[in-house]
Amino acid sequence: MSKKKIASARIGIESSDLLKELNNSLPFDKTLYLEDIKGSLAHASMLANKGIISGDDFKKINLGLNEILEEITSGSWDIEEDQQEDIHMAIEYRLTQKIGDAGKRLHTARSRNDQVALDFRLYVQKETKEITALLSNLMKSLLEIASKHTETLLPGMTHLQHAQPINFGYHIMAYASMFKRDFERFLSSYERNNLSPLGCAALAGTPHPIDRDMTASALGFDAPTLNCLDTVSDRDFALEILFNIATMMMHISRLSEELILWSSSEFGWIKLSDRHATGSSIMPQKKNPDIPELLRGKTGRANGNLISLLTVMKGLPLAYNKDMQEDKEGVFDSVKTAKLSLSILEEMLAQMTIKKAAMERACKVGHLSATDLADYLVKKLGIPFRDAYHIVGNTVNLAEEQGVDISELSLEALQSIESNIEEDVLGILDNRACMNARRSKGGTATIRTKEQIEALKSWLENLR
Ligand code: ARG
Repeated sequence: MSKKKIASARIGIESSDLLKELNNSLPFDKTLYLEDIKGSLAHASMLANKGIISGDDFKKINLGLNEILEEITSGSWDIEEDQQEDIHMAIEYRLTQKIGDAGKRLHTARSRNDQVALDFRLYVQKETKEITALLSNLMKSLLEIASKHTETLLPGMTHLQHAQPINFGYHIMAYASMFKRDFERFLSSYERNNLSPLGCAALAGTPHPIDRDMTASALGFDAPTLNCLDTVSDRDFALEILFNIATMMMHISRLSEELILWSSSEFGWIKLSDRHATGSSIMPQKKNPDIPELLRGKTGRANGNLISLLTVMKGLPLAYNKDMQEDKEGVFDSVKTAKLSLSILEEMLAQMTIKKAAMERACKVGHLSATDLADYLVKKLGIPFRDAYHIVGNTVNLAEEQGVDISELSLEALQSIESNIEEDVLGILDNRACMNARRSKGGTATIRTKEQIEALKSWLENLR
């Protein structure tokens, strides 16, 4: 037997079971119970303060809602037990069972439209803070790795082909820079959206003498939103967290892709801890990088969740439409994915082994100092760059014939191509010298990498 619905004054007969199934959001929106109770407490307190309900009713509501909160956290009440259609109805129904008429007064000057907009926004704000805390942990771990490897050479690549020597700290700082931007995006969304929807009622405000500033500040918002019609129709805050997560997951995915490559036998530049590797069901020798693969894979659902909600919202007339109930599951999923991904990535990076010798060995392949030889010919001998470019091409061919890297050619061999080359060229062709020569601002030279590390460290320290 289904319990009595509390929001169907004009509906005389029992709803179709299929309608109930389609309409029921309680299995997922129960996630919002804490936000719902907090919002109701702030609303009821304001109603009493403005004389819209009595002080006595507020006392009962306050006690009742706190009791419900305790029942939920202790597990003594199953939210779904009363078969209401969503979290808002479930809590109001429970409250009314407990305290009678006072419970029925709670919804004065409020609609589920502003109620759900409030609950969901509070949730998104709370999770945004949690994600930024995890992002700053990740950045700290990356900084630690980078600080230890500002002299560890590896081939920087374009097109996945060896290009120029860089240091591993510099490579890691590229990712730290992406995560800094992600952090800033979450923060700016938080600040933009820190406005209270409560008191917007169904769409047009309310004739009751409410005080939206009072509830906004009680709930930790900077102010109430400007326009009620917009507020009950608006899910930009949800789209923002979805976009912020999708972009962050794209960064996590690119790093994961590199970790997968680097841990392969072809590269052998890192080794994931056995705590973070998985085996194969048939090949006994295997250790697979399932974690970075899953992180790369989970980026797909983060993108999907963003596109889903953009699509849900695109054709909706003002104000609330039930389509908007489809806003929650994707956000819950993206938030869960983001938090788990950040935590496991941080742990895995902190425990992986970096195989410095293998990275440095890889720099002996691919003539990484070719550009530096061309620069030498230009600077030292005044040869036009395009001519120097061709001379270096011939030098690379010679190195290939001898089966060595350009940095391993003898002075005589170099001079056989360009007789004016002098001994100082040998210092220039050395990969470490090449790396340290790139000392323009933001470049890879060890001193520049250290500056970047310091800059990000002090940015992190100055947060809040
Ligand atoms: N469960 C609904 C949702 O998540 C709550 C808002 C219902 N409002 C309404 N007018 N039916 O969107």
